[in-house]
Amino acid sequence: MWSSFFTQLLALLFIAGCATGITQQRKVLEQLLKSYDVNEWPDADYDRPTNISIQMFINSFGSLNAANMDYSIDVFLRQHWVDERLKNSLNRSMTIRDPEMQKKIWRPDTYFHNVKDAEIHTVTMPNIQFRVTNTGQILYSVRVNAKLSCHLMLEHYPFDEQTCHAHLSSYANTDEIIHFHWVERIPIDLPDELEIAQFDLLGYSASEELMPLQTGNFSSLKVDFQLRRQNGYHILQTYVPTVLIVSISWVSFWLDPNSVPGRVSIGVTTLLTLTTLAGGIRQQLPPVSYIKAIDVWVGMCMIMVFGALLEFTLVNWLANKKILDTQTCQLMPMCKTGEDDESPKTYVNQARFLDRISRALFPGSFLLFNFIYWPYYLSDYNLE
Ligand SMILES: *[C@@H]1O[C@H](CO)[C@@H](O)[C@H](O)[C@H]1NC(C)=O
Ligand SMILES: *[C@@H]1O[C@H](CO)[C@@H](O)[C@H](O)[C@H]1NC(C)=O
Ligand SMILES: *[C@@H]1O[C@H](CO)[C@@H](O)[C@H](O)[C@H]1NC(C)=O
Repeated sequence: MWSSFFTQLLALLFIAGCATGITQQRKVLEQLLKSYDVNEWPDADYDRPTNISIQMFINSFGSLNAANMDYSIDVFLRQHWVDERLKNSLNRSMTIRDPEMQKKIWRPDTYFHNVKDAEIHTVTMPNIQFRVTNTGQILYSVRVNAKLSCHLMLEHYPFDEQTCHAHLSSYANTDEIIHFHWVERIPIDLPDELEIAQFDLLGYSASEELMPLQTGNFSSLKVDFQLRRQNGYHILQTYVPTVLIVSISWVSFWLDPNSVPGRVSIGVTTLLTLTTLAGGIRQQLPPVSYIKAIDVWVGMCMIMVFGALLEFTLVNWLANKKILDTQTCQLMPMCKTGEDDESPKTYVNQARFLDRISRALFPGSFLLFNFIYWPYYLSDYNLE
């Protein structure tokens, strides 16, 4: 009986001890906030701007959306500043969780200048960390999921490199009130294996700049992310198949000039296959008005295949055209070999000659195109 009394007494004492711990923080806070004006910035008394140091921890980097010209980013936005009004006698730092209490303390109104849509994670609680040390140093960390605009330049698509930025500033406080700085050593904290769909992150550059607006000069922070598209997918899904289709169209030059079904079906099939492929590529991209690297490639392949079909038309026409005027025939050097034939004379030898030229001319010009295309588009492409 005595033992149970003692355990109850101990439990009570323990609860009381904890309670004094909590009330101590609350007492200190309430005391501090009595003469605290949330509208005044921390350094208002000294008539100087408050320095806000920012660090971004990139939790994940969403895929770049070419159609909407944006990307999404999941960051822990960590803001540090000093509010001397919150200096206190507590031995430890306070973590303030109550949103109502947080509202009573001055916080910078940081926002993303190029944001399209953003939200703070709230599962299971709002993802906000608010910590005040006894020297008045404050850490305010928020987990934000933001969709930021990024102007994509697709001239070199799919061998393109993009620069996407995040631009932070204060909405209402000019540079007389808030000065933003990047945290000195690691402004952007990247996890070891950050994966971005379709892209590689080559690097970033962080800068501080003054943003002059009609409403005043605002201190702002900018970070540029350099990204390079992973093009293995496009090589396998576009470049290799189109090379094969173009090569197949050349088979036609080895067939007889009079083999109409064979040569027509090769020409039409390759042309249709290319058209379907080109349609698939077009679907993934916004309707920009300039020409992309992939357009040049597909366009050239179209020209090659279409040229092969035209060549057949010419060859077939020649092969069936009867030689009527022998006088003009004698003037032509190639015509003479045909004169030995017994059957009605046609330009079939010229047709065969044209096929023989095409066998070299078509692959040759395609090869030449490749010698121009690849150096041109890969010249300023960062291969590693
Ligand atoms: C803010 O930072 C600037 C330079 O980084 C420094 O000169 C200034 O003293 C700082 N202000 C405060 C209140 O610490
Ligand atoms: C702070 O903690 C130290 C030991 O960690 C202790 O000696 C001191 O009395 C504490 N001060 C207050 C004000 O609680
Ligand atoms: C903004 O800064 C410029 C020079 O940096 C200065 O001429 C201008 O007066 C400033 N504007 C305001 C509203 O302070």
